[in-house]
Amino acid sequence: MGKRADRGGDAAREELTLRPMTARDLNAVAQIFEADTGAAPPAGFREHLSALVKSGGAVFVAIGGREVVGYVAGEIRSWEFGSPPAGWVFALAVKPSWQRFGTGRALLARAVEALRKAGVRAVRTMVSREDVAVLRFFRREGFVAGPYTELELTFGGRAR
Ligand SMILES: CC(C)(COP(=O)(O)OP(=O)(O)OC[C@H]1O[C@@H](n2cnc3c(N)ncnc32)[C@H](O)[C@@H]1OP(=O)(O)O)[C@@H](O)C(=O)NCCC(=O)NCCS
Repeated sequence: MGKRADRGGDAAREELTLRPMTARDLNAVAQIFEADTGAAPPAGFREHLSALVKSGGAVFVAIGGREVVGYVAGEIRSWEFGSPPAGWVFALAVKPSWQRFGTGRALLARAVEALRKAGVRAVRTMVSREDVAVLRFFRREGFVAGPYTELELTFGGRAR
């Protein structure tokens, strides 16, 4: 049985809602992070989300049934290398059993809309060149290569 069938198909889709993230969602967010990556969120991740929750940043969760099944986090950065202020989506994840169901698309659209309303003219994100699935996702949502190039200096091997 496919994932969509497991969730009850269209009935489950109708259950999907989005709302602003709250402090009470942070444990569920950390669990989804871990389910997707196999590792706990890095130091400072939770505190950063918490600050954005308090300041009304572009942080949202998807609720499927009654549980948090995905999240997105975006913010405006206006200090980077003389570039004009831009929105950044720095976290987006969907619980594995809710992927390929439109959840990521809905979350991203909500964050992009919040950042657009906050006045930026561009929204950026960063994706590993090797992560073809996530690249496909962002391209499908209209993201293309931006005007800046990331440069890095590594110590004893390529950082991942
Ligand atoms: C990337 C991610 C958020 C997408 O969430 P999702 O809910 O599965 O995405 P959607 O169902 O909204 O997909 C929208 C479209 O993106 C494309 N897409 C999504 N996942 C894809 C995949 N694994 N392979 C190819 N295309 C994909 C498809 O075109 C899809 O539309 P379709 O299902 O009608 O063909 C999800 O895969 C995820 O949480 N991955 C792990 C965490 C991560 O890597 N996050 C991104 C960096 S922070």
